[in-house]
Amino acid sequence: MRNIGVGVIGTGFMGKAHSFAYRAVAGIFPGSLRPVLQSVADINGEAAEQAAKQFGFLRWRTDWHALVEDPDIEVVSITTPNVVHREMALAAIAAGKHVHCEKPIAPNADAARDMMDAAEAAGVVTQVGYNYIKNPMLKLARSMVAAGELGEITGFRGIHAEDCMADIAGGERRGPDFREAWEIQRIIDTAVRSSKLRTWQAIEQAIE
Ligand SMILES: NC(=O)c1ccc[n+]([C@@H]2O[C@H](COP(=O)([O-])OP(=O)(O)OC[C@H]3O[C@@H](n4cnc5c(N)ncnc54)[C@H](O)[C@@H]3O)[C@@H](O)[C@H]2O)c1
Repeated sequence: MRNIGVGVIGTGFMGKAHSFAYRAVAGIFPGSLRPVLQSVADINGEAAEQAAKQFGFLRWRTDWHALVEDPDIEVVSITTPNVVHREMALAAIAAGKHVHCEKPIAPNADAARDMMDAAEAAGVVTQVGYNYIKNPMLKLARSMVAAGELGEITGFRGIHAEDCMADIAGGERRGPDFREAWEIQRIIDTAVRSSKLRTWQAIEQAIE
């Protein structure tokens, strides 16, 4: 089993989820890669230090640039607010790192395209955190559509209910740089889930 160095930028809700997952992966998929938690970065130094202690990162930083330049790191997880994904991803890709970026990858299509083009040109492996695509619930829906149990699909109305973005004080707590971004993120984070399901279903029907 080969070790692979990992760096995580952001220590909030998804930073914790990525860190848990990296810690667990070698136990769940033995014989593949063993992630080594090399470094974690957050603009909040206390949060970075706490995450390093809690999850076992070897180093912590407040400057993410140092993390993406770290030669011991092969994979960078970006779990920061959407508005800063592009800058971080382009720097990580330029440094030759594989990138797992949280969804939505960017606040607009131009930024997302920049990231995609850079990754393709560099030949690095990338992934976006569309974890629901692998959800057993959606796999069941997919098999029901494929088996014709739902008949001919003529329309789709998506509802995605979750309350993690219901925190109206979240923007205040995240500070002036992220107040507006949080408000936008509250809308598109949830909308993207339902549109993702719709896209998948449309593709499924086209294949059939
Ligand atoms: N895949 C999923 O299921 C899922 C679920 C929730 C959120 N998300 C996505 O994950 C991303 C993060 O969301 P979250 O809920 O974890 O947010 P959060 O606010 O809980 O955490 C963000 C973290 O990033 C840090 N940060 C902000 N700017 C930084 C910078 N310049 N350098 C270093 N650290 C910085 C913050 O201090 C904070 O710790 C967003 O893109 C969001 O859309 C994905």
